Amino acid sequence: MTPPSAAAPPGLVERGADTIYWAFDEHQHRLRAITRRVQQRFERRDWTGIRRDTVERLTLYPRSLHQTFETLRDQLGAGISDRGLWAAMKGAYAMAVTGRNDFELAETYFNSLTRKVFPHLGVDPAIDYGAGDFPLPYKGWEMADARMYAVRHVDAAVVRKVLEDAGLRAPFRDLERDARLAAAHIERGIREGLAGGSETAEIEALDVLRPIFFRNKGAYLIGRARRGEAVLPIVLAILNGEAGLWVDAVLPTEDETSLLFSFARWYFHIDVESPRGVIGFLRSILPRKRVSELYLSLGYKHHGKTELYRELMDHIAGSAELFVTAPGQRGLVMEVFTLPSYEFVFKVIKDAFPSSKPFTREQVMERYRSVLLVDRVGRLAGFHEFEHLTFPRARFSAELLDRLLEVAGRTVTVDGDKVVVRHVYVERRVTPLDLYVRDRPLQEARSAVLDWGRSLKDMAAADIFPGDVLLKNFGVTRHGRVISYDYDELRALTECRFLPLPEARTEEQEMASEPWYTVGENDIFPEELRTFLGLEGELRTAFLREHSDLFDVAFWHRMQERNRLGEIIDFFPYGEARRLRPGWRRPA
Ligand SMILES: Nc1ncnc2c1ncn2[C@@H]1O[C@H](COP(=O)(O)OP(=O)(O)OP(=O)(O)O)[C@@H](O)[C@H]1O
Ligand SMILES: [Mg+2]
Repeated sequence: MTPPSAAAPPGLVERGADTIYWAFDEHQHRLRAITRRVQQRFERRDWTGIRRDTVERLTLYPRSLHQTFETLRDQLGAGISDRGLWAAMKGAYAMAVTGRNDFELAETYFNSLTRKVFPHLGVDPAIDYGAGDFPLPYKGWEMADARMYAVRHVDAAVVRKVLEDAGLRAPFRDLERDARLAAAHIERGIREGLAGGSETAEIEALDVLRPIFFRNKGAYLIGRARRGEAVLPIVLAILNGEAGLWVDAVLPTEDETSLLFSFARWYFHIDVESPRGVIGFLRSILPRKRVSELYLSLGYKHHGKTELYRELMDHIAGSAELFVTAPGQRGLVMEVFTLPSYEFVFKVIKDAFPSSKPFTREQVMERYRSVLLVDRVGRLAGFHEFEHLTFPRARFSAELLDRLLEVAGRTVTVDGDKVVVRHVYVERRVTPLDLYVRDRPLQEARSAVLDWGRSLKDMAAADIFPGDVLLKNFGVTRHGRVISYDYDELRALTECRFLPLPEARTEEQEMASEPWYTVGENDIFPEELRTFLGLEGELRTAFLREHSDLFDVAFWHRMQERNRLGEIIDFFPYGEARRLRPGWRRPA
């Protein structure tokens, strides 16, 4: 228990709390400055600049925490590890952040510091904020930071106004035409999608968020059409080419909008004072997305993690279900478990790996970390790294707990009625592709297998080689997209050496069950992929028809060349059918 806060000298308490407050405030200013810069870069078509900013923003938070921690250490001296002092600072800080539009982020910032100061202790309500003290209101039509267009129909004039109001400082190449085409797409979307496809395209209002969402080469206006209780997302995707801006696509469904906000993509840049308001709006159009995922999609990684922690603890408390081993093939590096009713998996690094995995725990962690620093192009699942998670012991099946203690005893321990997990990756659960292909009707299996090939090509174009190219290391999302989740052999494509299989010269070589030639760590023989496929019959035929270039060394060399030339390839998060002018060349 934390001793009473009265023990802490009042001057010190205030000074410490102030330091944290102003450090947080400065952090928010810097963050917003980056997002504003991203808008300018979009307007100038500075794609490499956007990429640099995206990576820079990822380091902003840890750098700020580090500096604040150093300052506090000087200020507080030995008091820095005094829990009583922290409890008192929490009280003073709470008063300071009340009334801020981003108080929830401010609280998370405080928590990140207590985690840094007391890394080995679980969450303590005396010094940590629990997310959810102020749950998000949810009416289904949250308006914060949105413009309301009170129109009965979405026609070209309204769309034109929406595009002008967005205030991008670059000219549209043909605003009239874009407005007309977009209006037609929206009108059709409303007819088909709003309240179960009624005949009318009449609405009560069109609402559009003021902040523009930027990611890579795209700018997105996020809105919704409303009629009574019914709500339909309306997204306008805007690109900027040499001849000016144009509306590339309209997304008028929840599924497509959800894909835009996928956990397998980089975050958006938006300049906003109150993310909470925007999250409320997003929830009204994406009711199936978790609040944690929405924060994450806006780049508030740490607050997303706070929310995820709360969701997880609430979920555990609200059910009596047992943790069990995740369905699928056991990993050689990871032990993976899940709660059947909860759409996440928990991945714990094993104490030891077999000789086929010649690397260390630190290298595995390094590879996982690298995933969060690259564009995941809709093909690599994001994850959260947690330390010192505590679960009730009673909620583990005996079989799973025995197994965890046996293979990951360095990470998983039992402390009375608690199971303490020292380090774990929490990742969205998908259906492992090997199970999907085995269990689903042929048509679904076929489209997953074809998308698997496309996922390898997308990753290659983004300079990513997933390493272990086997069905079991990929999964299928609820939207039927294939993504990768096993990162222990992931590396840059340009680091790999793609080689033709050497031809056997002697009978001995021919019959050898192990390779008779030496294989370097980064040597890849694309022809071997054919053997590894693990597909039969119709599925194999379909895969070979679309993707046999994957077995060819030339394909991989070409991809390496493109990456070496520094081309920034963007992966547009929508299908051709949603484009206003299918086939139009996008900005290079
Ligand atoms: N995000 C996920 N969703 C669903 N199942 C998953 C997920 N991540 C892992 N799994 C399951 O856990 C198994 C092991 O996970 P993973 O492949 O990440 O571990 P690994 O030890 O690195 O595997 P390998 O032995 O192939 O290197 C997978 O084969 C799959 O069945
Ligand atoms: Mg695996």
